[in-house]
Amino acid sequence: MRAVVRDPYGPVDVLRIDNIEPPVPGSGEVVVRVEAASLNMADLDHLLGRPRASRVATGLFRPTNRRVGIDVAGTVEQVGPDVSSLRVGDRVWADLFDSGHGALADRVCVLASALSPLPDDVSFDAAATAPHSGSLALQCLRAVGPIRPGERVLINGAGGCVGPFAVQIAKLRGAQVTAIDHGDKLDFLRDLGADEVIDYTREDFTRGARRFDVVLDIADTRSVFALRRPLAPGGRYVLIARRIGSFAAMTLLGPLVGRLTGTRMGTFFWQPNQRADLDELAGLLASGEVVPRIDRRYGLDDTIEAFRRLESGAARGKILVLP
Ligand SMILES: NC(=O)c1ccc[n+]([C@@H]2O[C@H](COP(=O)([O-])OP(=O)(O)OC[C@H]3O[C@@H](n4cnc5c(N)ncnc54)[C@H](OP(=O)(O)O)[C@@H]3O)[C@@H](O)[C@H]2O)c1
Repeated sequence: MRAVVRDPYGPVDVLRIDNIEPPVPGSGEVVVRVEAASLNMADLDHLLGRPRASRVATGLFRPTNRRVGIDVAGTVEQVGPDVSSLRVGDRVWADLFDSGHGALADRVCVLASALSPLPDDVSFDAAATAPHSGSLALQCLRAVGPIRPGERVLINGAGGCVGPFAVQIAKLRGAQVTAIDHGDKLDFLRDLGADEVIDYTREDFTRGARRFDVVLDIADTRSVFALRRPLAPGGRYVLIARRIGSFAAMTLLGPLVGRLTGTRMGTFFWQPNQRADLDELAGLLASGEVVPRIDRRYGLDDTIEAFRRLESGAARGKILVLP
């Protein structure tokens, strides 16, 4: 079977399509036929071995895992011993971030416990967009506590992978959403339902007069001291950290700055592939309350091109790879 693999850490050019032995499921495992996978920034980080500190776990000099791809939706094709929760033909989905990666392949062998059932009324394409990015959006929204109707919610870096989920879910909860991203993406943000949009290349939201009840920060580009300014009294700020440094700074300083300024500032501990999150996302996708944004579809043989598009920042929504 075909699988996207890499041997060294490095940019997209390290990827290649390999013909590998079809997997045989061991105890507790199943083989999933991949119907759709999607790309995430986390896949790029996985390729590059970024941040460097993560290589302690993933291989200091060379990656210990050659396989690539975390978001997967597919059909159970084989069931190993000691699996009672799944049967051949079941529709499933997952974020394989901590389950061995490998979604970019014809098939992937994975512990049955890592898979959630995918309802019939959610297409494979729609499902593949959501496990990683949709869960991050749900978890960061949860971290700021319940959103009350009419609250002013600012989403910084709303035009990437996570933002489209965050914008739509915040709107569903009755928020007045302001979305920030590059000027080229403002129409996309409006189309997602954002009430107001800001071009980060023209306006610094930490310097303006506008105040927000909630700030979800996906871009992670400003210091904790700058980020206190756009918060209204009692406002809540949460960071999806991209860098270990900003995670540490926000964890240590956020609560202190928050206490001094009458706000709540912090980050959260992401938990990948939570069944409850996937069930909630399945409901939102099935009902049409959240519309998956699909930028382009690529075949497995064009995965490198798909990664280049992800890297370019030109995508409007998720990039799918369909084996
Ligand atoms: N903390 C954790 O536990 C955890 C867990 C998983 C993932 N992550 C990280 O969380 C991030 C998830 O975000 P994502 O996948 O949505 O990223 P993404 O696709 O890169 O989206 C980020 C968006 O922010 C925009 N942006 C860049 N600079 C900006 C600025 N100065 N102000 C406002 N927006 C700006 C980007 O636009 P341009 O195209 O113009 O650059 C892009 O549209 C990833 O980096 C991932 O590695 C964190």
